[in-house]
Amino acid sequence: MAGLPHVRRNREVWDGMSEWYQAKHGPQLNTRPLAWGMWAIPEAEIGALGDVSGKVVLELGCGGGQWSMFLAEAGARPVGLDLSEQQLSAARRLMRTPYPLVHADGEQLPFSDASFDVVLSDHGAMIWADPYATVPEVARVLRPGGRLAFNAGTPWVCACDPGNDASLSERLINPLLRPSSCRRRRWRRHLHPRLRRLDPPASVVRAGHREPHRASSAG
Ligand SMILES: C[S@@+](CC[C@H](N)C(=O)[O-])C[C@H]1O[C@@H](n2cnc3c(N)ncnc32)[C@H](O)[C@@H]1O
Repeated sequence: MAGLPHVRRNREVWDGMSEWYQAKHGPQLNTRPLAWGMWAIPEAEIGALGDVSGKVVLELGCGGGQWSMFLAEAGARPVGLDLSEQQLSAARRLMRTPYPLVHADGEQLPFSDASFDVVLSDHGAMIWADPYATVPEVARVLRPGGRLAFNAGTPWVCACDPGNDASLSERLINPLLRPSSCRRRRWRRHLHPRLRRLDPPASVVRAGHREPHRASSAG
């Protein structure tokens, strides 16, 4: 897979940090089935995917494949796709119910038109790749009436970061407007430039929002 410079860079970054990433996030990802994002909010509460039983689901940027693993166990027919061979190796190690893993770039999907009922991406390729390429590709491989569900980052991560590598708090414990204090967001530079708008630094958020703890103390 040759790929454009940003795709090559992404693959190198993810190959390089896969082992660290799985060691750090695996304890949560491996034990919280069908849950979205860094706060592991249950899909049962969000209902983004709908009923997946028997459905063909593409996980776009599957990483260690935890979503696909739990979807397979819940009766769906997942396919995990990722750019990073190291992340796919992690998925192979974790896999219990067999499902296909595909090494490919989310900007150029190696699937026929109308192959999937659902595409999901939990901090996956939808935020690292060029949306002008991924969105049309997702539209192409989805069946009529199919569904794309994905999530992206948020500056609130900074406000909830205890700063000691512990899990994110569910409380606002830091000022939102001190981005330099937020170590978790250094990886933001690897996001596709067009997607950084979805994941703005706290300093950009300042333009439109008040600092949360100040807002609450002001009543
Ligand atoms: C933060 S991980 C998310 C994976 C999983 N959902 C999780 O929560 O661990 C991002 C994943 O997206 C993959 N990725 C980045 N760019 C991609 C692209 N262009 N195509 C496919 N996968 C990509 C990375 O290799 C990585 O495994």
